[in-house]
Amino acid sequence: MSVTIKDIAKEADVSIATVSRVINNKSEGVGDETRERILKIIKDRKYYPNRMARGMVTKQSNMLGLILPDITNPFFPDLVRGVEDTASRFGYNIVLCNADNDKDKEESYIQVLKENNAAGIFYISVIRRNDNNIKRLLESKIPFVLMDRRINIDNVPKVYTDNEAGMYEMVEYLIKQGHRKIAYISGPKYNSSSEQRLKGYTTALSDAGIPVEDSLIREGDYQIESGHQYITELLDQGREFTAVACANDMMAVGALEGLKSRGIKIPEEISITGYDDILMATVTSPKLTTVAQPKYEMGCIAAELLIKLVKGQRISQNEVILQSKLAIRESVAKRSDNIENCSHR
Ligand code: RIB
Repeated sequence: MSVTIKDIAKEADVSIATVSRVINNKSEGVGDETRERILKIIKDRKYYPNRMARGMVTKQSNMLGLILPDITNPFFPDLVRGVEDTASRFGYNIVLCNADNDKDKEESYIQVLKENNAAGIFYISVIRRNDNNIKRLLESKIPFVLMDRRINIDNVPKVYTDNEAGMYEMVEYLIKQGHRKIAYISGPKYNSSSEQRLKGYTTALSDAGIPVEDSLIREGDYQIESGHQYITELLDQGREFTAVACANDMMAVGALEGLKSRGIKIPEEISITGYDDILMATVTSPKLTTVAQPKYEMGCIAAELLIKLVKGQRISQNEVILQSKLAIRESVAKRSDNIENCSHR
């Protein structure tokens, strides 16, 4: 029968918790003599769970966990690539944890990473502020950094882009192209990046003296289907608009299909914009005008910050806000006329 942690504790005449702390290199409070005795018993009894072998060879594992909300969203691969390229330069491996937009799954991954002796964690939160999961991260004593979706926690490094400025600039561009009736398909309200983009949309309209019309705003979920669903709803309800701004490219792709399925010419009749600049934005027809987020750079910077934390080095900047830029392509037309010339089918 295989040796268990209980057998080790019994032979060493210590608690299971003490053996576990030694296994996970968290043996503060365990005397050197006790620690050596436990390690000798483990060796003699050939008790080597995977995490144990790694823990005994190095003071700390070289595994960094990356918890992200939705592996199916093409925004994340470039971000993860930036993390991975940087981490591997410093000799660290990445373990991806896809939360599937489920905050409970996110919580279980925090526990898994803790049990597997992660040296550090990258955390992209599913919801704006998950106090329970933040508490678990803080209690784990594993260094972590926040990426992409801002959460207001002191003394935790965070790297994200200025979402409000990015959407403000896009709506300002649409206004400069002559659009006054601009519909908006937002991401989920519970998401900080989506909340900031909505603010950018409303502020840009207000600054241009254009009234914000709630009837032209819909809350999507960052998925393709919701873009299709809400552009269809806006058209079915007879809403009049000459442009639609979407809070991410996936919903813009869905909205594009919804417009085309009604025979609406893009951008001649309705202009459309996205946000993220995923690869798909360069192959849609027409090619999507969007906001290009510095995804890869965000990942690189977050990895440099986390590795400094893991190594116990000082961090000069706790909050890094990156700027996005417009990627002007084919999906926006100048409007010289006003709304009356726009016939929606
Ligand atoms: O498309 C997914 C969105 O969620 C991206 O815009 C990214 O910023 C993340 O917040």
